[in-house]
Amino acid sequence: MLPDMIFNSDSVSATESKSDTVLPHTNRLMLAIESSCDETSAAVIREDGCVLSNIVASQYDLHQEFGGVVPEIASRGHVRQILPVIRSALREAGCVLDDIKVMAVTTEPGLVGSLLVGLTAAKALALSLNVPLVTVNHIDAHIFACGMRHGSSVFPCAGFVVSGGHTNLYDCASATSFRMIGGTSDDAAGEAFDKVARILGLPYPGGPSIQAAAQSGDPRKWQMPRPLLHSGRLDFSFSGLKTAVLYAARGVPGPDQLKETPADRVHDLAASFQAAAVEVLVKKAQTAVKQLGYRRLCVGGGVAANRLLREELAKASKKGRFELIIAPLDLCTDNAAMAAIAWELFRQGKIANLDADVLPGLIRSPRR
Ligand code: KG4
Ligand code: ZN
Repeated sequence: MLPDMIFNSDSVSATESKSDTVLPHTNRLMLAIESSCDETSAAVIREDGCVLSNIVASQYDLHQEFGGVVPEIASRGHVRQILPVIRSALREAGCVLDDIKVMAVTTEPGLVGSLLVGLTAAKALALSLNVPLVTVNHIDAHIFACGMRHGSSVFPCAGFVVSGGHTNLYDCASATSFRMIGGTSDDAAGEAFDKVARILGLPYPGGPSIQAAAQSGDPRKWQMPRPLLHSGRLDFSFSGLKTAVLYAARGVPGPDQLKETPADRVHDLAASFQAAAVEVLVKKAQTAVKQLGYRRLCVGGGVAANRLLREELAKASKKGRFELIIAPLDLCTDNAAMAAIAWELFRQGKIANLDADVLPGLIRSPRR
């Protein structure tokens, strides 16, 4: 489909096309698409890194009743949202399709159907606009997002991605050279927040619900396990912690618990779970900084929005005398602006072919 056919002229900004103007390099515009999980997002990003628009359409309402993302429903949601979201991104940036000089899209890792929707739209636009296509690794983009409002390069650094699908530590030598040094052997941290919320009857997504419930809870009321806390290794495991919450929530109440109201119990369990998860995350991040010898830690991904995690990381950075850079709140959860990393790849000549495919699992593509 040609862009003219998919975007009727009055739905795009009334701004005049500037395609016949020779733009200075730093003014060139990229349209980035992100659809790896349950957010459909498009952003217009200038070559100097300035984000002109970043539209995110979440699918929370579609997945709410299931307590987690249902892949087939997510793909269908992206199909419905992708064009309106792209249209809004262009309108908010005050540009039209002809102004776009580079297309960028997340192709790994993520849900296969969801990724394919974004990639298909990006390929169609790259082909019809005759502009290069750059493919982006979602996890790399989460790390890159940390430095997007920092003002200067954040590399080299220890990188930490804490999201719904990943809990990974990286040696980030440069903006495009990341080596994984640790990860989870079962659930990701965000997945544990989501599953624990479901156990406690709290709404999806679980992270914000647990955070809100924990605010009026006692984090010391329940002794939750801290898996692999003292292992000295950089790996994580959250399934045991999740099961501990399940047993505590459904188990026979002891004399102490009988005094609690059901609401207090939920708040205390949420606070106790959150405290345990955050303690493990902070400890492993500190270990990674020490092992790598960098004086800087960058933390991104949805769980990086967690208030307690941000506070505890700040304390750890003060104590350990390393610089802490956490992604701004609006860039923690999935969004297309973080695909600004594509400008770095573009400058290195890393242009994808139009037969590029998605890579749902976390596999390093050979180009890096
Ligand atoms: O990065 P993201 O948007 O998607 C993935 O790449 O997975 O992360 C989503 C995850 C969800 O599991 C959600 O519950 C969690 O981030 N999350 C939080 C908070 N906000 C979002 N977890 C803890 N505290 C939060 N405030
Ligand atoms: Zn993500």
